[in-house]
Amino acid sequence: MLCLGIESTAHTFGCSIINSENDDRNKHDGMILSEVRDIYKAPAGWGIHPRDASKHHAQIAPKILKECFDSAHIKIKDVDLIAYSAGPGLGPCLRIGAVIARSLSSFYNIPLIPVNHAIGHLELGIKLTNLVNPLTLLVSGGHTMILVFYKNKWRVFGETLDITIGQLFDQVGRSMGFASPCGNKIEELSNLSDKNSVYSLPYVIKGNDVSFSGLLTAVKMLIRNKKLALSDICFSLQETAFSIIVEAVERALSFTEKKEFLIVGGVSANNRLSQMLQIACEYQNSIFKSCPIQFCGDNGTQIAWTGLQLYLYSPFSRVAPEKASISQSWRLDTVDIMWR
Ligand code: KG4
Ligand code: ZN
Repeated sequence: MLCLGIESTAHTFGCSIINSENDDRNKHDGMILSEVRDIYKAPAGWGIHPRDASKHHAQIAPKILKECFDSAHIKIKDVDLIAYSAGPGLGPCLRIGAVIARSLSSFYNIPLIPVNHAIGHLELGIKLTNLVNPLTLLVSGGHTMILVFYKNKWRVFGETLDITIGQLFDQVGRSMGFASPCGNKIEELSNLSDKNSVYSLPYVIKGNDVSFSGLLTAVKMLIRNKKLALSDICFSLQETAFSIIVEAVERALSFTEKKEFLIVGGVSANNRLSQMLQIACEYQNSIFKSCPIQFCGDNGTQIAWTGLQLYLYSPFSRVAPEKASISQSWRLDTVDIMWR
């Protein structure tokens, strides 16, 4: 089967075509026939305005779709299934992906599957790392969650009580004058620090849950002090925020006795976070794996892969194009996973 996946929840508009026949456990290259995306960048110092991001998606979508089909060497008529990200995410952005998916589905009479974007991160991460049942950390602009799979659902073991780690990094970056998303800028700057000046910052962890809003306020105050080097502020931010999340993960590993650990989502591209998590995994005798770097951030493949599983194993997941909708706040722990 050939499945087209369309991703449009926030800054990224992405399309991917996968082939289920090449779904060999060790040969993922053959499965992904094409994967194309474009990321909306806000003006310097600004966050992502949903209306502007959706305009970007609407403008770029025909080009991305064409490139996706051309590089897979197939035509839309060859596609057996269309999957689109139906939430959670920014309403105007989600609507662009949904409209495209609905139109293609009804015009070419191709089955249509709505996919939960966060489940897409988790399921593609599992697929690409060959793990069986890991404790999983999902860290992105939309999520900061520690998860375990149990009885057909991903269960939330711990999560942020306020903002996500991606929001924390993006808002700090904006205060420094960068354009969202800018987590990679924070990492670059942090690497320039001589690591001698570590500022004391709020460290909030409650049971298995974490909180970053006090940390954000404190870092913004440091930025206002023009005498401090931004690299040292970024270094202090990373060390504090990652220590909080790693403490929660290590506690969860110890409690659940999981022998596999997986990190997915845009923030999993951060090398320092991986390094710290790896140390925690060694202490807990767990195998550490990260989603391959090119699939950490939002992409069409996470939607295509999850859509394919839903189609094959969850008979009620298919929707009629006229009933296909979006949901801005769709919790991942409400989704039934019938394929594991
Ligand atoms: O998964 P993703 O592409 O979109 C959402 O589902 O939200 O994650 C985007 C987030 C942004 O907040 C971005 O700043 C952050 O991932 N990010 C990073 C890095 N690369 C991307 N955060 C820290 N370090 C990085 N290297
Ligand atoms: Zn995402």
